[in-house]
Amino acid sequence: MVFDFFGKVAVISGAASGMGFVFSKKFVESGGSIVMSDINKEALDTAVNEVNSIRDGAAIGAVCDVRKYDEVKNLIDIAVKNFGRVDITVPFAGGAETRMLKVTEPNFEKIPIEVFDWSIDVNLRSQLYFDHAVFGVMKEQQSGVLIHIGSVTGVEGGPSVPGYSASKSGVMNGLTISMAQLGARYGIRSVCVSPGPVLTRPGMANMKTPLGRAATPEEVVNAILYYCSEDGSFYTGVDILIDGGRHIMLDRSI
Ligand SMILES: NC(=O)c1ccc[n+]([C@@H]2O[C@H](COP(=O)([O-])OP(=O)(O)OC[C@H]3O[C@@H](n4cnc5c(N)ncnc54)[C@H](O)[C@@H]3O)[C@@H](O)[C@H]2O)c1
Repeated sequence: MVFDFFGKVAVISGAASGMGFVFSKKFVESGGSIVMSDINKEALDTAVNEVNSIRDGAAIGAVCDVRKYDEVKNLIDIAVKNFGRVDITVPFAGGAETRMLKVTEPNFEKIPIEVFDWSIDVNLRSQLYFDHAVFGVMKEQQSGVLIHIGSVTGVEGGPSVPGYSASKSGVMNGLTISMAQLGARYGIRSVCVSPGPVLTRPGMANMKTPLGRAATPEEVVNAILYYCSEDGSFYTGVDILIDGGRHIMLDRSI
C-alpha cells in the first residue's frame, strides 16, 4: 500500500520491536517524521538507526516507560520542539501479563496482584496517558489522530490473562469512544485497531483463526496507517478487529 505522510509527525511507544518498529519504517518511507520510544534502550537505538537510514533525521529515539505520565508527556514535548507538531499517536507498548512477566503459576488467586497492576498500567493506563498528553497540542492544531491498540482478547476474554483482556476491552470501548466524543469538535479522531494473532513472534502461529493463519505485522500496520491517513478520515469512535475472524470462532479452545 502507498501512503503519503509528508509533513506529518507521529509519536509512538513500543517502537523497538514488533509492529511499532514496522510502523516506524513504513511511516518514514511514506514521508513522515516520528518520535520512537521504548523502555528497552539498546533495542531502541538499533531500531532508530535503521529508520534513520531510510531518511536521515526522520526519527528521534527517546527512552520512555509508559507507566510514567511525565515520560509520556516528554515524548510529546520532544516532537513539538523538534518537528513542530503531533498528528498521530500510536501507543503500541503492551502485552499479556503472564507472557511478558514470565508467570507460570496457573491459579489466578495465587498470582501476585502486582502482575495485574503491571498489565493495567501498560495496556490501559498508558493509552489514556498518551491521549491526555497530546490532546492540547491537537486541539490547538484542530487536527489529530489518536490510535489505540486493542486485541481480540478484549472481546473473547482470556482466563490466563484477565488483566490484559480487561485492559484491552477498556481501550477498545470506553477510551476510544470517549476520546472520539471529546475530540470531534476539534478535528481529532479516535480509532482502535485490535489484532488477533500477529507473527511478531513465532508462537502466535499456534493461535487459531478461521482463516487458518496469523497476520503478518505488515497487514496490521497497513490497516493502522490507513486509519491515520486522509483516506481514513471519516472513521472515529470505532474499534477495528483485524483478526482473521477469530472473534467469530465457535471453538476458541486454542
Ligand atoms: N502480537 C500479537 O499477536 C498481538 C495481538 C493482539 C494485540 N497485540 C498488541 O499489539 C501491540 C504490539 O504488539 P507486538 O507483538 O508488536 O509487541 P512486541 O512484544 O514485539 O513489542 C512490545 C514493545 O513494548 C515495549 N515495552 C514493554 N513494556 C514497556 C513499558 N513499560 N514502556 C515502554 N515500552 C514498553 C517492549 O520493550 C517492546 O519493544 C501490543 O499492545 C499488543 O498487546 C499484539
